[in-house]
Amino acid sequence: MSNKKQLQVSAIESGTVIDHIPAASLFDVITILGLDRIPNQITFGANLDSKKYGKKAIIKVADKFFEPDEINKISLVAPNAHLNIIKDYEVVEKKHVTIPDEIVGIVKCFNPKCICNHESVQTRFRVMDKEELALECHYCEKITTRDELRMV
Ligand code: CTP
Ligand code: ZN
Repeated sequence: MSNKKQLQVSAIESGTVIDHIPAASLFDVITILGLDRIPNQITFGANLDSKKYGKKAIIKVADKFFEPDEINKISLVAPNAHLNIIKDYEVVEKKHVTIPDEIVGIVKCFNPKCICNHESVQTRFRVMDKEELALECHYCEKITTRDELRMV
């Protein structure tokens, strides 16, 4: 390829580009944002080279502008994600995701005996440590850590 600056995933006219997703978290991000259930045009790149993160993924969602509460859900699996808001092919805004104080209905409690793993109640956690990620279960008070994270 002669043009070394060519984008690995085509530019979009309007929408949101979610960049710097850890390669292993691509499909969790798709699930968390419900991208498998919306009609928008979506393009993504998996296992792309990144200077900072080794391998990364990128997702481009046309004509979609996420509310902070919605997009911040991905911070659990993509804490360093960069959001680029695109209008008329230009980046008009850049944002980062932040980890919320409370996580409802995204991840499972690691405790197999927890009521939320047996009854149809939404999981609920208080975020105790945003750096290392420690989630205290509202029901059993046990701590789920990053290594134990499983999506509901
Ligand atoms: N992008 C896009 N469509 C556009 C404009 C930008 O898909 N019309 C994407 C680019 O491919 C890039 C991201 O949006 O992945 C951010 O664009 P830009 O700020 O131009 O790139 P960088 O300077 O590389 O930004 P950063 O270092 O923040 O990744
Ligand atoms: Zn629990």
